[in-house]
Amino acid sequence: MTETSFTPRVFSGIQPSGNLHLGNYLGALKRFVDMQEAGGYETVYCMVDLHAITVWQDPADLRRSTRELCAGFIASGIDPEKSILINQSQVPEHAQLAWVFNCVARMGWMGRMTQWKDKTAGKNAEAASLGLFAYPSLMAADILIYHATHVPVGEDQKQHLELTRDIATKFNHDYGVDFFPITEPVIEGAATRVMSLRDGSKKMSKSDPSDASRINMTDDADAIAKKIRKAKTDPEPLPSEAAGLAERPEARNLVNIFAALNGQTVDQVLGDFGGRAFSEFKPALAELAVAHLAPISSEMSRLMDNQDEIDRILTRGAERAREITAPILKKTYEIVGMVGPVEL
Ligand code: TYM
Repeated sequence: MTETSFTPRVFSGIQPSGNLHLGNYLGALKRFVDMQEAGGYETVYCMVDLHAITVWQDPADLRRSTRELCAGFIASGIDPEKSILINQSQVPEHAQLAWVFNCVARMGWMGRMTQWKDKTAGKNAEAASLGLFAYPSLMAADILIYHATHVPVGEDQKQHLELTRDIATKFNHDYGVDFFPITEPVIEGAATRVMSLRDGSKKMSKSDPSDASRINMTDDADAIAKKIRKAKTDPEPLPSEAAGLAERPEARNLVNIFAALNGQTVDQVLGDFGGRAFSEFKPALAELAVAHLAPISSEMSRLMDNQDEIDRILTRGAERAREITAPILKKTYEIVGMVGPVEL
């Protein structure tokens, strides 16, 4: 940790690339709301459209997905008065700081990122965009342009957050300053890695070709119940303790989802359901999931009918964000040696 004390500030982001799903909700959104309500932090939440275009996005789809994601944030409980809610490209300092970080981070660091390796595995990496390679540097800029101290994410983002710490450390070291905080990842709770409903060894993901593998935040009650009914399981009844789930990835996933939705620990869920069959557990899970998600999905569609309101919220969010980001970028430029006054 650095010596300087920083305002406790939370930052996190989600890509507006379609199909917001239960993994995003439990691993990220629900926890964003918890941190907003916990008090003691300023909270900044972001739709990362500049990250989305590191792979091809149809422009009309991107615009729709960005507004839909904004509706998803609000419908899940993000209050644009309590939190700063923004679209990344509307706050230009993210991209400006990312350029500075492109000059701090090393090619080798980027090449070791497992998400880069996964996304290019079996494909021609030479044909991937330069933006996809530099993706984690922009992510570090998202966080550090706010001097954010805490970043709630799912487990798949852990390595990117370690890289964010490396970039902050190298910048501070190279320029002999104590300017960027060493951010703490917040990867907590029962659902930091929600798995596919069809295959317990694969992460629930928006890019899975099987729609039955995930619960989308726009699914209606029938679709949610059906996907849970059809979720892959094994023939054994549920165990009475968490250790009994070790070799049962599908069962573990459903119990984790139940625990996260109901604000319980896995042991509490197994205390209630241990020894019972999936034919009893699945309907209880379906009822819980519908009770949580159906109101969010109907609120999302209500908000989507009022896109001007969404756009107003994002414009206001960007104004508030820039009160934080503009001075941090200005100071960064001074540290680096840019001749000022710099037009911001
Ligand atoms: P993205 O858009 O892929 O996912 C958004 C958030 O959802 C979490 N998540 C999951 N959590 C549990 N189980 C799953 N199956 C699951 N799938 C996704 C992710 O961990 C993430 O927290 N690079 C980021 C976006 C980003 C960002 C940032 C995040 C850009 N800048 C700065 C934090 C801070 C991403 O692609 O997330």
